[in-house]
Formats: sequence, structure tokens, C-alpha cells
Amino acid sequence: MSLDAGMMPFGRYAHIVGWGKAIPDRVVTNDELAQIVDTSDEWIRTRTGIRQRHIAVDPNETTATLGAKAARAALDTANLPSSKVDMIICATSSPEHTFPATACIIQDLIGATNAGAFDLSAACSGFVYGLGMAKGLIASGQADNVLVIGAETLSRIVDWSDRNTCVLFGDGAGAVVVQASAVPGGILSTEMGCDGSGADVLILPAGGSKMPATLETVASGQHFVKMNGRAVFRFATRVMTDATRKVLDRAGLRVEDVDLVIPHQANERIIASSMRQLGLSEDKVFMNLQHYGNTSTASIPIALTEAIEQDRIKPHDKIVMVGFGAGLTWAGAAIEWGVPTERETSFWQTSQRTAAYNLARARSQLLRISRRLESSLVSEDGASLAERMSKRFGGRKPEEDAPPAEAEQELLEERSGEEEA
Ligand code: COA
Repeated sequence: MSLDAGMMPFGRYAHIVGWGKAIPDRVVTNDELAQIVDTSDEWIRTRTGIRQRHIAVDPNETTATLGAKAARAALDTANLPSSKVDMIICATSSPEHTFPATACIIQDLIGATNAGAFDLSAACSGFVYGLGMAKGLIASGQADNVLVIGAETLSRIVDWSDRNTCVLFGDGAGAVVVQASAVPGGILSTEMGCDGSGADVLILPAGGSKMPATLETVASGQHFVKMNGRAVFRFATRVMTDATRKVLDRAGLRVEDVDLVIPHQANERIIASSMRQLGLSEDKVFMNLQHYGNTSTASIPIALTEAIEQDRIKPHDKIVMVGFGAGLTWAGAAIEWGVPTERETSFWQTSQRTAAYNLARARSQLLRISRRLESSLVSEDGASLAERMSKRFGGRKPEEDAPPAEAEQELLEERSGEEEA
């Protein structure tokens, strides 16, 4: 599936105008992991490039709180109040619940009172799929401001006794604001693909409707990530190359035009091999997986934010974001960067936003309290407080106010007779 530059109706372009990240504090080094599983810093570094990862150890730090923090940072750089957001797309492989969507929890946390919100499940390709959705919503005039978030607490669904997987993943979140603009550029083209025949290659088997949670599924570790690493490796190198070629082609660009590729940060060798096949030199590829490991949907927006922090992006640069993941899925986007990356926020703007977030928190608390009160006033059989009071203390029951069935029927017949006359 694709949406190309040429398909933009009404001269509406989709630009990334805000960016941000949220990283948990706790760092887990390869040496630390070697104390819990049979591995070594040397093995992990040479096979993957990863040196450490960040883990959300505080139970109050969740996929939604990390996502909300990244979203606030993105809104800050965009200088956009959360009330102006039309849609929140949260790409995640570790949602807080099967439902409600983590995006809804983020909507509440940031007080985006005018936004729709949904989760996008395309594993590590999810963030780039989200960019494709944002571009579509903007191009069709359905939205002006879309928050696209990638947020993960994969540490909670990884088997910490399985060395094949636990060394790879990390927690974190990244977000962007995609905004409608009449200025040509922004997200030029996208590619979103899938090969479901590889669904079992990278999977969290239990907890869904096919294999609901039972004592057995828990005991046999079916609620943890399972992966055939070699199969993923072969697939990934192929699709990263193909997807990059496709989006460049659709945007009318050549490989030589690319200023920076921001690939999914899964494995240094996968990135190096696919970029070599494309003929792209190392200096045109951004990598930070050594610090964070594979943060799934969050890896590309975190990398984008750091590339900007390191002055690797300037207006009119041609950027490719490309990823792959469970599904098996892949996705790419070619972007012409459209806005300055240096941002100055005044004290007044920061205070205004802080006040708005505090207000949103208070509003949410009030709504929760009033909902709790409301349901405490209605008993399990659906009787309202007035009905229960009347039952307990006597007095007229509400149904006594209504005319008996026969009287009601007579009244109706009388009225229809009057109308006919
Ligand atoms: N430490 C030490 N040894 C390990 C290990 C670890 N953390 N994990 C696996 N091994 C062992 C294997 O058990 C195997 O041992 P064996 O030969 O005795 O069976 C050996 O190392 C080699 O395994 P192999 O699969 O050939 O290694 P590899 O070079 O393919 O690297 C991956 C393994 C997982 C790093 C690599 O396949 C990979 O990165 N795949 C893609 C995974 C990915 O990106 N997933 C996320 C997708 S979004």
C-alpha cells in the first residue's frame, strides 16, 4: 500500500513540525545481562551492536506514560497546544491492555480533548505505518494535526531467561507532530507492506483470543516474545533495501539524493548490510542502537529526535525512514524536511503549557470522580438512587407516575380519533 507525492489533493502537505522522546532512567549494560543469562558483552556487541538498553523499572512508568512524555516533548517543539491535536496514533507492540487503546490513555494524560485516538499494531514497522496514516488523514482533509507516537515497555513481555531475545530489546518512546501545510515537501511517499506467512517468526503467542491466558500458558512462558532470529535477519535485510528503493522511486528521488537514512534500530549488521546493498555510505545512516537496543516502534522517532539534537538534519534534506518487524511487516517513508530544527521556547509558552497539562489532569480526575459517583448511585440491578430510596423508605414508586397500560391505550385511541375528525 502506498500514498505518493503526486496523490496529494488540494495542495495539502504533511510536515513533521514537532519531535520528542522519553527514555527510562535505568540502564542495563551487556555485562549486567551476562549475570542473568549465558551471554557476554562481546557476543551481544559483535552480533547486534547493542551495548546497553534502558528499562522501565518503576511500575508507574508504563507504555502510556512514556508515550505521553514523548508526545508532550513533540508538542513543545511544535509549539502546539494539545487541544489542537485532531488524531493520536500510538504504534506499540506492548500496549497497556488489549483494550482500551494506549492512545486513549495518552489522550487523557496530555489533555488532547479534541482528538480521536487509536493504537496501530504493525510491530516495529508501526511508527512508519503511523506516518503513512497521518499523511493520508492530512491529505484527505480529515485532520490538520496528527500526533504519531511509538511507545514501548518491551521489558515486560520479554523472557529474561531467554538469551535469544532478552539481550535485544529496550524500553522508550518517541513522538512527532505531523501538520498540514500548503508548503510542498514533508512526507513525500510511503511504503507499507506485509507477509503474514511469517506471522510465527516473531510472535507473542498467548494472551489474545486464540490462546487466552490460562495457568498452562503462563507456566509454559507463552506470554513472552518468541523469535526465530535467523529468519528475521534474512527477511529484514531484503525488505529494508526494497522499501527504501520503492519510496525513493515514488518520490522521484535517487539514492544519491538522500541526506540521511533513519533505519529501525534493531541490529547494526542488518542496517550495514542493507545500506551497503543500496550503495549508501555510513555517514548517511543514523544509528543509536548501541545506547537503547531495539525499542520496536519507538526506535525511529527516538533516532529522529537524536539526529535533530546532533544537527544531522536541516531544511530541505531528503530523509528516508525504514523499518521491519513482526507480522512480518515492513514500511518506509521518504521525507523532505520542511522546518528549522532549532527551537526556542519562551518562559511564557512553557508556563502556559504546564498550566494546560495541570488543568487536563484536574479535568480527568473530576471526570473519574463523577463517573464513580454516578455508578455508586446506580445499583447492580440498574435501580437509581431515587428508586432504591423509595424501596427502602416507602413512598410512591416511579412507575406509579406512569398511566397503566390500558389507560395509555385508551388515551392513544382517543387522540387518533380527534386527529381523524
Ligand atoms: N549470547 C550468547 N549466545 C547466544 C545468544 C546470546 N545472547 N543468543 C543466541 N546465542 C547462540 C545461539 O544459541 C547459537 O548457539 P548454537 O549455535 O549453539 O545453537 C549461536 O549463538 C548462534 O546463533 P545464531 O542465530 O546463528 O546467531 P546470529 O549470528 O544469527 O545472531 C541474532 C543472532 C538474534 C542476533 C540475529 O539473528 C538477529 O539479529 N536477528 C534479527 C532479530 C531482530 O532484529 N529481531 C527484532 C525484529 S524487529
